[in-house]
Amino acid sequence: MCHNVRMEKDKLLVELEREIAEDKKLPLLTANLVFGEGNSSTEILFIGEAPGQNEDIQKRPFVGKAGQLLRNLIKKIGWREADVYITNIVKRRPPGNRDPLPEEIEAYKPYLTRQIEIIKPKLIVPLGRFATNYFLPLAKITRDQGKIFRAGEWRVFPLFHPAAALRSPDMMKALEENFMKLPLALEQIKNPSEKKIEDPLLPKKDEKPKQSQLF
Ligand code: URA
Repeated sequence: MCHNVRMEKDKLLVELEREIAEDKKLPLLTANLVFGEGNSSTEILFIGEAPGQNEDIQKRPFVGKAGQLLRNLIKKIGWREADVYITNIVKRRPPGNRDPLPEEIEAYKPYLTRQIEIIKPKLIVPLGRFATNYFLPLAKITRDQGKIFRAGEWRVFPLFHPAAALRSPDMMKALEENFMKLPLALEQIKNPSEKKIEDPLLPKKDEKPKQSQLF
């Protein structure tokens, strides 16, 4: 990625963060803004649910126990944290870490939409049910984790939330196994002719993309 492109993306993200910070109509305003961090020119965008207590304090996404797991898995597949981008669908902590409300997800949606459009990742990795259903409303995380889907112009590869994996050995195993598929999934998206992962939703080379079956 050209240096200038990355500088331009960084600039747009700084402006977007400032806009969110100044939007006093947003919900959860008593919590800190956790905008997201990483390489603005990344091919891979991880998206969680909402910041927790540690994230609220540090104003950084995924820095608690679940974040440690996510960051370790990223390193385990040979990527660097600095090469990916990490954010959440809701950018402020819901009180007591409760689930985000539909209206909270909706309120932050225009900003997440713009954040994704600036970054333009090759692959979005939603972590857990809320982030997965944000992109794929009919998806079932247990059934659909570890597969490539199309959501509008984006390719999406749902995974279990690392916090859920910390509570269940079965989910941990599934998260680890599917995480290991990420490099191949990315490769397949970049070179659709190399059929490394079977997925009927992926277009053949030079074929016009089909709509995801989930829509
Ligand atoms: N869980 C999330 O969904 N996001 C974070 O940033 C931290 C924990």
